[in-house]
Amino acid sequence: MPATVVIGGQWGDEGKGRVVDFFARECSVIGRYSAGSNAGHTIVNEKGRFALHLVPAGIFHGNKACIIGNGVAILPTTLISEISMLEERGVDTSQLLISDRAHVVMPWHVAIDKLDEAMRGENAIGTTGTGTGPAFIDKTARLGIRTGDLLNPEEFDAKLRMILAYKNKVITQLYGGEPLDEREIRDQYREFGERLREYITNTAEVIQDAHERGEQILLEGAQGTLLDLDTGTYPYVTSSVPASVAAGACIGIGLGPTAIDRVVGVYKAYQTRVGNGPMPTELFDADGDALRNHGMAQGTAEFGTTTGRPRRCGWFDGVLARYTARLNGLTSVALTRLDVLAQFDRIKICTAYELDGARVSTLPASLQAQTRVTPVYEEMPGWKQEITDVRSFGDLPEAARNYVRRIEQILGVPVDMISVGPERDQAIVTHDIFGGTL
Ligand code: GDP
Ligand code: IMO
Ligand code: MG
Repeated sequence: MPATVVIGGQWGDEGKGRVVDFFARECSVIGRYSAGSNAGHTIVNEKGRFALHLVPAGIFHGNKACIIGNGVAILPTTLISEISMLEERGVDTSQLLISDRAHVVMPWHVAIDKLDEAMRGENAIGTTGTGTGPAFIDKTARLGIRTGDLLNPEEFDAKLRMILAYKNKVITQLYGGEPLDEREIRDQYREFGERLREYITNTAEVIQDAHERGEQILLEGAQGTLLDLDTGTYPYVTSSVPASVAAGACIGIGLGPTAIDRVVGVYKAYQTRVGNGPMPTELFDADGDALRNHGMAQGTAEFGTTTGRPRRCGWFDGVLARYTARLNGLTSVALTRLDVLAQFDRIKICTAYELDGARVSTLPASLQAQTRVTPVYEEMPGWKQEITDVRSFGDLPEAARNYVRRIEQILGVPVDMISVGPERDQAIVTHDIFGGTL
């Protein structure tokens, strides 16, 4: 059976957690392959409403192996409190597995994340402050500590001593910060190792065995393609290695590219971004506020799942969407939050940019150019009608169907799932990618 990748097609928060929770029923293994606790994936199902940062969104189905792969950077405090929270709320976590090669976010990463943002001043990235970026920087600098190290006290102590001496110099001499205490970190992280010991294993073997047995595998992406180091709006991106594009899934979980057969791109029906950096279709008017504030009472308004920051909102950017669809080799699109657009008389879609008087149809590489482009919009009529209870494409108002079809045309990829609300069953499946089972 082929593996399926679920990937964000915008700047994150497209509803990946919600889509993975929906598709997970068809799969026996669900794996997270990148990023860290900077991610925040919201799931609303019969067990309640959950915001997960590290545990895969498949955990609610009970009998599925849920893997945190080698490509993830783990902040132990977040993971441990997430596991405890799930257990307290009656969710079985016995199927959770953590790669022994996943990197660990250390206290200096969290400290440096904040110090570095302060040093950048007005050019700050607007990071989540979770230490995830610095942990990936240390991974590539070959200064990382991995979960497997936490299980081997002698090896851990030696690495900690060497790396902390180095990091304390960076913190005090470069950033003018306070040095960190070795003994405190050693005791704390040894305890984390003991708490997580039962979950840590060679997860690549587990997933390779499942693949050889022909089981359905679902790979949960974090962030979005526009936050990726190579393809995103650099330098206003995240630092995950492997990449936040579908191709990163193989590296971050331990499968070869031939194992992957389907790539589902998750897109919101409009555009959002948290943190700094260019966003051509950003709205600063009442429409932007209306997009942001929709669902305030239900807790689904556009505020960051990890940091609570208001998300910047704008119309659907078809230029960027087509750019990311092609980069990920999408086979399907899951379009989320279509219900949010029900409030508008007219809806805009950006289909090209103008840059210095010329029309462009893709994202320029230069940051300055990305900031200077102005969107060229196409306007479509709205439908002004609630659609949260609609479950078949034919029952959507005509204007909503036309909007979906237009997005499909721009992307060149079929919209196989439409989400019309945050709850598991608030979905329209236009084509069952799992072959008639959903
Ligand atoms: P992720 O990071 O991609 O998993 O997305 P987030 O969970 O950060 O943000 C998505 C938000 O939209 C969450 O509050 C979800 O509960 C909510 N959501 C997902 N799909 C829908 C939908 O179709 N309609 C509405 N109104 N909310 C949705
Ligand atoms: P999910 O998986 C939205 C953004 C941050 C910031 C930039 C760098 O929930 O879609 P970092 O802390 O990673 O160094 O911050 O990336 N960012 C996200 N934005 N959703 C996410 O994840 C994000 N993860 C990082 O806001 O702009
Ligand atoms: Mg999120």
